[in-house]
Amino acid sequence: MDIRTLKDIENIEGKKVLLRVDFNVPMNKTTGEIEDDTRITEALPTIKFLSEKGAKTIIMSHLGRPDGIVKEELRLTKIRQHLSKLLNKPVKKLDEILSEKVKEEVAKMKNGEIILLENIRFRKEEEQCEPNFTKELASLGEIFVNDAFGTAHRKHASTAGLADYLPAYAGLLMEKEIIQLSKVLDEIPAKPITMIFGGAKIDTKIGVIKHFLDKADYFLIGGGLANTFLFAKNINIGESLCEKDKADIAKEIIEKLNSKTDALNLPVDAVVAKELSNETQAQEVAIESLPDGMKIFDIGTKTAEKFSEIIKKSGTIIWNGPLGVYEYKPFLNGTKLIAETISNHKCVSIIGGGDTADCIKKLGIASEKFTHISTGGGACIEFLSGDKLPGIEILRK
Ligand code: 3PG
Repeated sequence: MDIRTLKDIENIEGKKVLLRVDFNVPMNKTTGEIEDDTRITEALPTIKFLSEKGAKTIIMSHLGRPDGIVKEELRLTKIRQHLSKLLNKPVKKLDEILSEKVKEEVAKMKNGEIILLENIRFRKEEEQCEPNFTKELASLGEIFVNDAFGTAHRKHASTAGLADYLPAYAGLLMEKEIIQLSKVLDEIPAKPITMIFGGAKIDTKIGVIKHFLDKADYFLIGGGLANTFLFAKNINIGESLCEKDKADIAKEIIEKLNSKTDALNLPVDAVVAKELSNETQAQEVAIESLPDGMKIFDIGTKTAEKFSEIIKKSGTIIWNGPLGVYEYKPFLNGTKLIAETISNHKCVSIIGGGDTADCIKKLGIASEKFTHISTGGGACIEFLSGDKLPGIEILRK
């Protein structure tokens, strides 16, 4: 690999390491508790490595999109507690990012100690990658380690800018993500290649769909994303979630894929209901027969079975985005069947996107049943699109 990694750092003991992680984890809106700690557990090997080698580790992360202002509900207080519990050692959290107090606390650090700075996006300069802010941030450390694969597609002060002032290295999670995802891009993947896309938005997936147009054999589309394609094909979707302004992009993809036999697979039936709730009266209908006042919330049984047949003959599967609104029981089945089919099929399977990973976890399917579950959503997609990610480019030798 042409990436500088932790193994390349010499004499780490006693060094102040600025470590960027992606602790942007889902938090319960009512209780403020962490709902899925995967991104935290995945960062533990790097944190442990640094601490055990005697580095003074200063952790930076964002949570949500506070847009440069302090939002109480987006403080990293709960994350500190959880991290400390997982590491079984104290983690000191500072309620600021850059201040005299932060500088004093960092100056007092002993070897192996860990400090967590406050949500880095409370400062607007972070997302602007503002040079003075970046320089001042860099002055807190001697080495920059980027382990935030999930945020590697952002050119922010703490994800890329710090490399202008400090030697930069990939953390162990970043290294793992790059190795696993590069296999799909660099090696000749086992055929047939099947891409499964769900979730709500088309624009985050457009790059990767285009990148794989000639390479992949099958495209299976579900979730809200499918509605945009159905709308582009003049199929009545009523008031179902849809990005009507993106219908042109969908049309373009449909036209390109129509020349390849069986490449594009859209839902042939759907689970529909009047509203999203666990108690709602859901029913299955053929895709052309959406009853008035109903909305599409999941793929139907025929679609799930058709998708499963394609999965069972695939050599490589790349999956991003749930196929229905899995958070509600009546609309979980499509995603469940697809997840189970992939997990029972011997193939290379790459899962991206927080929602997909979250759903797999909730279904109780072991992560070992898949080749790789990425901690990145947008970052995973952009990487697989062949784009250069700022947070990775700065790590190249
Ligand atoms: C993510 O959840 O995809 C990352 O943490 C990046 O978050 P962002 O889209 O707010 O930059």
